[in-house]
Amino acid sequence: MLDLLVGYWISRMLHAVARAGIADRLAKAPQTAKQLAQASGTNAAALHRVLRALASVGVFKEDKQRRFALTPLGETLRSDVAGSMHAFALMMPDDYNWSSWAALERSLEDGGVAFERVHGQRIFDWLGRRPREMEVFSRSMGNLSAMEAPAVAAALELDGVRTLVDVAGAHGGLLATILKANPKLRGVLFDLPDVIEQARQSPVWRSRALSSRVEFVSGDYLQEVPAGADAYIMKYIVHDLDDGRAVKLLKNCRRAMNQRGRVLVVDAVIPPGNDPSWGKLLDVNMLVLTGGSERTREEFSSLLGRAGLRLARILATACPLSVVEAAAV
Ligand SMILES: C[S@@+](CC[C@H](N)C(=O)[O-])C[C@H]1O[C@@H](n2cnc3c(N)ncnc32)[C@H](O)[C@@H]1O
Repeated sequence: MLDLLVGYWISRMLHAVARAGIADRLAKAPQTAKQLAQASGTNAAALHRVLRALASVGVFKEDKQRRFALTPLGETLRSDVAGSMHAFALMMPDDYNWSSWAALERSLEDGGVAFERVHGQRIFDWLGRRPREMEVFSRSMGNLSAMEAPAVAAALELDGVRTLVDVAGAHGGLLATILKANPKLRGVLFDLPDVIEQARQSPVWRSRALSSRVEFVSGDYLQEVPAGADAYIMKYIVHDLDDGRAVKLLKNCRRAMNQRGRVLVVDAVIPPGNDPSWGKLLDVNMLVLTGGSERTREEFSSLLGRAGLRLARILATACPLSVVEAAAV
């Protein structure tokens, strides 16, 4: 219980060392806190204590000369490696999320969205006015996608699909992975205007072979989504939305898709029982930040039904997310 209660000490230390770029500075060789403090503009004694504490939970290793090195876990805090969690470490414990979680009790009082109580507006409106936070947010979603996209792409069955829209696909990590795995497929990356501008510059689309098969389209998914595709995929999107908004988005996909089109909702489907579950934790993050939720199979089935869709099947993946596949009723 003590470990659980002090969990936030660790997440905030990880945030601080991510902001100071410590893992990137340790990429080539071990260094002392003094050397790292000089390079990062931090206090050497305080930095030593934070690094020593993080070494005690497996993130760094300190040697007899008081030099710190990265462990395999610590390597994930580098910004430039496969499997990087650097942007996620900048984003998740950042002040705007932190202060929202501090107001969890206000969500408990009446089921309202803590973020909106604290910041006075919906999270994507707030992010939309803060290009720096939005850019880090999109990159941090890219960190998750880099882990999840291969598993999702491997689970998809896209026979007969020539065009796929990634609805609110951020910088397009998932779409790029799916396009690589399906060489004849064409993709449309759809998101808010600022995000699409950033996506065009993202290293994800550096390869000409890949970028020639994608179209970038911006808009608001609650108004409409690009028309005429065979499939619409959305990862971590339906979970952002309360039932009313989720039905609106699904109806927009239903209206936009080709006659025999499919909707592919990629989210954590809440399992029964008490086993460890990423979805059950993420669900509370949605309560706090967005007003959305993770859903059970039955809840997905009823939500899809309200949008004129029927749940065709749920494909498990090798990551905690599933693909909820729907077709027109
Ligand atoms: C939780 S992120 C998921 C991103 C991506 N699908 C992934 O899995 O990494 C939510 C995305 O929804 C986008 N978004 C939020 N509101 C939107 C709207 N009204 N219309 C289009 N995109 C929106 C955000 O810009 C962001 O990229």
